[in-house]
Amino acid sequence: MDNSSYNIGIVGLGVMGLNLARNVASRSFTVLGWDPQEEQRRLAENHKIPCASSIKDLVQQLESPRKILLMVPAGQVVDQVIRSISASLDPGDIIMDGGNSFFKETDKRNQQLTEDGIHFLGLGISGGHKGALEGPAIMAGGDPDAYAKVKPILVALAASYDGTPCVDFMGKSSAGHYVKMVHNGIEYGLMQVVAEAFDFLVELNGYSYQQCAALFKQWNSTRLQGYLMEITANILKISSGENAVLDEIFDAAGQKGTGSWTAQNALELGVPVPGIDAAIRMRQISGYWEERRALSKLLDGTVSTHQESGITSEMVEKAIYAAFLLVYLQGFHQLQVASKEYGFTYTLAQVAKTWRNGCIINSQIVRSLAGALESVKTHPLLVQTINDQLKTDIESLRFVVSHAVLSGLSLPGMSANLWYWDAFSRAELPTRIIQAQRDYFGGHGYQTGPDSDLTSFPWEVE
Ligand code: 6PG
Repeated sequence: MDNSSYNIGIVGLGVMGLNLARNVASRSFTVLGWDPQEEQRRLAENHKIPCASSIKDLVQQLESPRKILLMVPAGQVVDQVIRSISASLDPGDIIMDGGNSFFKETDKRNQQLTEDGIHFLGLGISGGHKGALEGPAIMAGGDPDAYAKVKPILVALAASYDGTPCVDFMGKSSAGHYVKMVHNGIEYGLMQVVAEAFDFLVELNGYSYQQCAALFKQWNSTRLQGYLMEITANILKISSGENAVLDEIFDAAGQKGTGSWTAQNALELGVPVPGIDAAIRMRQISGYWEERRALSKLLDGTVSTHQESGITSEMVEKAIYAAFLLVYLQGFHQLQVASKEYGFTYTLAQVAKTWRNGCIINSQIVRSLAGALESVKTHPLLVQTINDQLKTDIESLRFVVSHAVLSGLSLPGMSANLWYWDAFSRAELPTRIIQAQRDYFGGHGYQTGPDSDLTSFPWEVE
């Protein structure tokens, strides 16, 4: 390979970076890698990914305009790498950040690099290690001309569904990272629902892991089909010696932050996402393992089982379906509000199409939403086909949640999704008493209708 001829450079050859490099190389593009750790470079070369001798050397060996994909940890490292390469770049060169960067940081980087004449693309890449190697879903944001230049490579390496690549341009600046952030919030919400369904089946219906595995596997060939169902069925089957691997896993769940960013941003935008909030809170509560163990001992807290409950696996399936659908809808509502607030140009159908394959939340539900959300202008719950479906399945969610609550198994994700539906489907809420109280003690005023002026009442009585 002569100088200045590689199609793309990848900085950061950890498992995601290396697998993406291998993926690109397998699609007849030439890729040059670099990682500060010699061991990573050696590993890459073992996989036939040539490596530059320094980051400057990588820059020098790329065709013009240079396309450099950063696969480094989100945060300061991204800025450090950008600083170390930007001086050697020419106007029109393209830097892509493929990590889970916070979208507001992407905005800052985009502004700075644009001033320097460098194009910046924030790429939300989903699919884990396997997806990176075999085809992830990619959500791009930034300069549309720069996107057009890298698009052939992204299309080649991405997953596809029905012949359509699961990669798309979501809008300016941080749009791609924004969509990926909400993707991860949904991911948290779905994972919590799966964990609760498993808990219900084992604790209250007395299922064995193997029975759960069989059920999840069966569901994975129905309307509940999806990546998370598939891997859960696999996880439940696997044992190490005598024991299920699951039983050897400490129950404090980790989180790198993308789910919490989704919830924090939803708060900023005034968008309710209780299914996502509950998932984050349960990961947090799981981290208080010492307190949980101590309290459980004090209370001798065992879950009371009601085997005669009459909650069948068919009802659990319906409950999962309704809860999953509601988690997706909360995420799509957030995306809808955010696109107006931040001037992103994606449509909800376009996002759903990008998530049809390759990403962690790919599922039959999101595939059906790609059609249902085609021209949605209002809250996605108001789409007739969507609320018809929910009307059918919500009663099972209600039975499952009620039964679990009475048994001391709280199912916070499922419950949150249920009350989200219940609250949204009531024309009148008791919040008018909150308005009255605010006016009573603070003279904050209340409206008598959505367009009326604020008025106050002389509340004091003897
Ligand atoms: C993906 C995943 C990926 C990663 C999450 C894990 O789409 O491929 O979302 O980005 O697995 O960041 O997040 P937590 O560590 O916060 O669970």
